[in-house]
Amino acid sequence: MKSLRVQFFSFLAVLLIVLLLMLNIFPITSSRDTVFQEKESSISGQAAILATSLAKLDKPDQASVGEVLRLLNITGFERTVVVDTRGQTLYYTYGTSAPESEEKDLNTALSGKTVFRSKYDGESFLSSYAIPISCQGAITGAVYLLERDVVRAVIILDVQSQIRIISVMIILVVLALAVVFSSVILRRIHDLASSMRIVAAGDYSHRMQISGSDELSDLGNEFNTLTERLDATERERRRFVSDASHELKTPLASIRLLSDSIVQNENMDTETVREFVTDIGNEAERLQRTTEKLLDLSRLDDDIQVIPEPVDVKQVAVDALVLLRPLAKERQIRLRCELEEGCVVMATVDDMFHIIFNLIENAIKYNLDGGSVFVRLETGPENIMLTVEDTGVGIPEEDRYNIFTRFYRVDKARSREAGGSGLGLSIVHAAVKAHGGTVQARNNCGLVIEIALPCEEGEEDEQNSDRGG
Ligand SMILES: Nc1ncnc2c1ncn2[C@@H]1O[C@H](COP(=O)(O)OP(=O)(O)OP(=O)(O)O)[C@@H](O)[C@H]1O
Ligand SMILES: [Mg+2]
Repeated sequence: MKSLRVQFFSFLAVLLIVLLLMLNIFPITSSRDTVFQEKESSISGQAAILATSLAKLDKPDQASVGEVLRLLNITGFERTVVVDTRGQTLYYTYGTSAPESEEKDLNTALSGKTVFRSKYDGESFLSSYAIPISCQGAITGAVYLLERDVVRAVIILDVQSQIRIISVMIILVVLALAVVFSSVILRRIHDLASSMRIVAAGDYSHRMQISGSDELSDLGNEFNTLTERLDATERERRRFVSDASHELKTPLASIRLLSDSIVQNENMDTETVREFVTDIGNEAERLQRTTEKLLDLSRLDDDIQVIPEPVDVKQVAVDALVLLRPLAKERQIRLRCELEEGCVVMATVDDMFHIIFNLIENAIKYNLDGGSVFVRLETGPENIMLTVEDTGVGIPEEDRYNIFTRFYRVDKARSREAGGSGLGLSIVHAAVKAHGGTVQARNNCGLVIEIALPCEEGEEDEQNSDRGG
């Protein structure tokens, strides 16, 4: 694995090399080209004037050409050579030895063409120009001028060395900034990675310190949110395991105590034995109810792929009411209902039955003797609404957020006495959620629970994809 730092610096190095090469090459070549152009125009102009003036001379020689040069003020050339048609030198001033190209260029000029050369050797610009001397269409000789320019070369050398200094400074500044920047970024990535390792090792309470508001901070915030959820899930799991153990332990301990009493007490009369065995049976039944509810919940949690079918909610509600009527009668509780026809949802009959049965059962169990329960079923534009309202004790505001939590009971003694395990509403909540609905609790005279479930129409596809995913 290539470290991020190596990748970053390799990229930066390539970028810097390209940039600095451009910075070092481009200005120098372009200013050199400008000098070449300038040289060509100035030297060709002077050569042309000289050639025209020399064409007027009858017999050009060292003295007369020198006079013309002086009159025209053409000075400062390294070499000035004038030849006749045969190439014989008529005039010369030599500041330096002849370059290789001189003779060739003079011959080219004698054939009627001009030749310009210019080169930069790092110390000076050496420019030469050869031009024919023509009089009335006939070539009578040629002029060759060679100029050496050190001043401009020095300027270019200066610029070059300044660019080099700037380049070095750029490299140093960029490197320093890159080291600081990469260290900060890498330290933050390293912090994130070590936080992840800590959480992966099981410490869900760990949170990252976030500073700033860039993408890495966002990542840190996301990580903290994820860890918070993990933490909450883990706490919930632990509490669930401990609650479940506790729920199962209590009836088991009673059974143990009752059976021990029977075994140890040889002289126990039949009536008492019968009473004890009945109690053992009741405890066993409570255990069975609790385990069945736990299994229902785990099925709903697992999101096992059940195929939803159209369920007539009214029919399910009537079935639940029939089953619960005896319980209501025992406590002189009046069951009233207003059930609209044609309320169909995509769910399973079992889930719908669990929802409605648990709600009406609670409304009876936690009601006052002689009270009443009202069940209403109606269709809205998108949802069907199921409301179960009672005239019982209701639920205090501070407990209302917890009633869908597993094993949560508001009045523990009362609930236990009523045979409750604290799982009924959790099953309601899980089942409603599984079918895309919502559930709400509020107090009126007693408790009001309202459930909204999507109507069958147009929901089929959504439900399939929900549960299939
Ligand atoms: N209609 C109600 N009126 C007042 N309190 C209620 C009502 N319904 C539920 N509660 C309170 O909410 C708690 C949770 O209800 P839930 O149905 O989940 O459990 P339970 O009835 O105790 O046991 P289970 O339903 O598993 O037999 C109950 O213990 C009770 O204190
Ligand atoms: Mg209940």
